[in-house]
Amino acid sequence: MKFYITTPIYYVNAEPHIGSAYTTIIADIIARYKRMIGYDVFFLTGTDEHGLKILQAAQAAGRDVKEFCDELAGKFKQLWKDLKITNDFFIRTTDPQHEETVRFFVKKMMENGDIYKGKYSGWYCVHCETYYDESEVLEKDGKKVCPTCGREVKWVEEENYFFRLSKYNDALKKHFEENPDFVEPDFRKNEMLKILEKGLKDISITRTTFKWGVPFPGDEKHVIYVWVDALINYVSAIGYGRDEETFNKYWPADVHLIGKEINRFHSLIWPAMLISVGLPLPKKIFAHGWLTVNGQKISKSLGNAIDPRRFVEKYGNDVIRYYLVRDIVFGKDGDFSEEKLVTRLNADLANDYGNLLHRTLAMVKKHFSNKIPKPSESTDLDPQLKEKTLKTVENYIKLMDSYKLTEALETVWDLISFVNTYFDRTRPWILAKEGKMEKLATVLYNTSEAILKVAMMTLPIMPDTSEEVFRRLGFKEKVTPELLKTWGTLKPGSEAIHGKPLFEKIELKDLKKVAEVKKGVKEKVRSEEAGIITIDDFAKVDLRVAKILSAEKVEGSEKLIKMEIDLGELGKRQLVGGLAKYYKPEELVGKLIIVVANLKPRKLFGIESQGMLLAAKKGDKLTLLTVEGEIEPGAKIS
Ligand code: MSP
Repeated sequence: MKFYITTPIYYVNAEPHIGSAYTTIIADIIARYKRMIGYDVFFLTGTDEHGLKILQAAQAAGRDVKEFCDELAGKFKQLWKDLKITNDFFIRTTDPQHEETVRFFVKKMMENGDIYKGKYSGWYCVHCETYYDESEVLEKDGKKVCPTCGREVKWVEEENYFFRLSKYNDALKKHFEENPDFVEPDFRKNEMLKILEKGLKDISITRTTFKWGVPFPGDEKHVIYVWVDALINYVSAIGYGRDEETFNKYWPADVHLIGKEINRFHSLIWPAMLISVGLPLPKKIFAHGWLTVNGQKISKSLGNAIDPRRFVEKYGNDVIRYYLVRDIVFGKDGDFSEEKLVTRLNADLANDYGNLLHRTLAMVKKHFSNKIPKPSESTDLDPQLKEKTLKTVENYIKLMDSYKLTEALETVWDLISFVNTYFDRTRPWILAKEGKMEKLATVLYNTSEAILKVAMMTLPIMPDTSEEVFRRLGFKEKVTPELLKTWGTLKPGSEAIHGKPLFEKIELKDLKKVAEVKKGVKEKVRSEEAGIITIDDFAKVDLRVAKILSAEKVEGSEKLIKMEIDLGELGKRQLVGGLAKYYKPEELVGKLIIVVANLKPRKLFGIESQGMLLAAKKGDKLTLLTVEGEIEPGAKIS
């Protein structure tokens, strides 16, 4: 039995944050769960590296675009390693093999008569890499903005190649009808059905105004639209067109796990592309909700794009994973709040779960010399505990299989609370006092066995914790579906280890200190939002007058000019700037310009620029900043 699960591939325009980690953590939980119940799992994630958004991000950072992608893809890979994500492969859309597969796929669409040349005019959102027509865009402060992200959209008019998406409207409708679980949750499916009801339009699938993409087969002036390129990752990663054996083994995907805003691409465009090339459709698309942080949208400019590692270092990986599944109802939007996380840690993990193990093993240590006792004489409550545990396992499997992750955890915690009640009602400390050792042995065995089942069920969510519980209970086997579903799998006589409590509680008041720091940050963010900086912020920038000594065009670049400048007391430096469209090199020589002299050197086109010159730009015009009269190079600007 195979199970193929994917995450979206992440744009490498910025570093990953807790929102991007959410999809991957959830996918990891599902992948680990399926492995545990016996599937041969292929779990795929990766990075989406072509297109205008990435190109512009690299340019804004003054970096060579491939180098920029390499660095960011490395950061994603590292984060997944730190978060112990168990993906089987990491695909990058700049992998040559993927690029080849994209061309192969698009050629097949062409062979099927699904691609034609036409003229595109409409709105484009670079942030979402999405085309919109007039009726879709919104208006804000007199500007046209993207209905998904609210950023300004740009008018695009180009000769493009189009995909006959409209041709597949009926086939898709039929597929939705015949496969009512194709898109989940239901309300997301309904959004798709509405679009199909209105009727799909053909979409532009190439661009000509930049080159950062896969060249279109047969007309290399065009690059393939980044979304078409990206979606194909799901088949290229498993060898489509190259490795038929692996491909046939894993395709179709069992689930594409995605965020809600990219549902249209996955539930309509991607299936139509697959029908076009004659491939079966993925079995399910599950669109989850969005995370906010303390009630705010996650965004770099708001400064709340938290690196998940910060929380992992503070609370541990398992606690974060538990919190994300337990508190954010899977499928819906939810808010990440540190206070709520600590509340869950203290109540669910430290009190309910950790304490149960701790008090059970304390008695195993005291009365049975750390050996899991053999059950014999039964109390009235024992059959109930066994029944409840096995029923919980059954429910858990049902819920996990239908992606009801939050409910699955709720069921497990309901069992934990049942076991705690069992422990309290059988009163093992009284049994010990009265010397009823056989009954005591039964109670401690049963409690340990129920805890073992809890650890098995939570293994995909809290892998390290479960491993630790196995160790403490002396359970050394690999979890199998049979062991999970059977009562009595813990061997009497196993060596138990009492050890420290599993989870340490955190006082909520300690968090206050964190909150105060956060308040400071918030105020800073607020003034940053208003565009206000302090005099100290300004003083950090070392602005100087510099004289251009020589200038020449950078070979191979249409934009860049390399200059040697004199910065007086700071010496001579090399500068690279995007001036070639506005100045001839010889016009620059001798000019007194303004330079940021303390900027970290960076490479443009492989050439180091040791500073940045200032210029005013409006529309197509650009003019260099200079000084009104003669002044020595190196003069400070204040
Ligand atoms: N590159 C495309 C996907 C192409 S898949 C063929 C893309 N990338 S993304 O980096 O913008 O988003 C990747 C995933 O992260 C999406 O599923 C998105 O929903 C998710 N998240 C990004 N921010 C998020 C939150 N704040 N909360 C939850 N998930 C969010 O789209």
